Amino acid sequence: MISDVVLLGGPGAGKGTQAQILQKRFGYRQMSTGDLLRDHRARGTELGVAAQGYMQRGELVPDDLIVKMVEGELSADTAVLFDGFPRTVAQARALDAMLQARGRGLPSAVYFEVSRPELESRLLGRWTNPRNGRIYNERTNPPRTPGIDDEDGGPLVQREDDKPDTVGKRLDVFEAQTMPLVGFYRDGAASRLVRIDASRPVDDVTHDLLHALQMEHAHE
Ligand code: AP5
Repeated sequence: MISDVVLLGGPGAGKGTQAQILQKRFGYRQMSTGDLLRDHRARGTELGVAAQGYMQRGELVPDDLIVKMVEGELSADTAVLFDGFPRTVAQARALDAMLQARGRGLPSAVYFEVSRPELESRLLGRWTNPRNGRIYNERTNPPRTPGIDDEDGGPLVQREDDKPDTVGKRLDVFEAQTMPLVGFYRDGAASRLVRIDASRPVDDVTHDLLHALQMEHAHE
């Protein structure tokens, strides 16, 4: 049986890249709060309008808005890979309560360790397909033709919050507000935290992640 997992790591650590791989191969559901918020913004919902300024400045969207959004997205049985959520201790407590209220176990957490200079470099070279969320990197995982998606042939875009100033702010916010979650998941009655070296190539990180989730035998 697979259970819910929190992917914890700085902006650019590779959470989305790995979540897409595990979703495709193992039937997890990736729940990226960043992608959900970008979708709300594209549709011009009340939440999207409220979130816009925070996201453009590289700040966190307030906890109450995020928790309400996640609560609305939790469905019955599929095990979820939480990508970019929780990001504060208040969100982590709310997630535990939401899952317990639904009769599910507490999630485990995998912390993607990557140095700050590597995170900066990855974010500044990231390109994504806005139609399906597919992620590339001009240095480490380039598309066959620059700026064009390998699968649908449409244009790739750079995220507005991947500009140098905003990247610096996002990294500061991660260190101040999200790093305390390492202690939150490590220091309970039983540790729920596994660390992986996510500075290695994508396939190696996938291998270590599957090992952390004790799914290495299910590897294709
Ligand atoms: P969000 O969209 O969640 O951004 P993030 O956490 O900053 O994470 P990223 O998507 O930037 O990075 P990632 O770890 O997924 O890396 P990726 O796989 O793309 O959040 C955006 C904003 O929304 C926030 O700033 C905030 O305002 C708001 N928000 C979202 N959730 C919130 C919450 N819970 N509470 C409050 N506010 C919230 O990889 C990065 C690059 O590296 C890619 O180019 C990739 O190809 C490359 N790469 C990946 N793995 C490797 C590898 N192993 N080796 C080399 N390159 C690699």
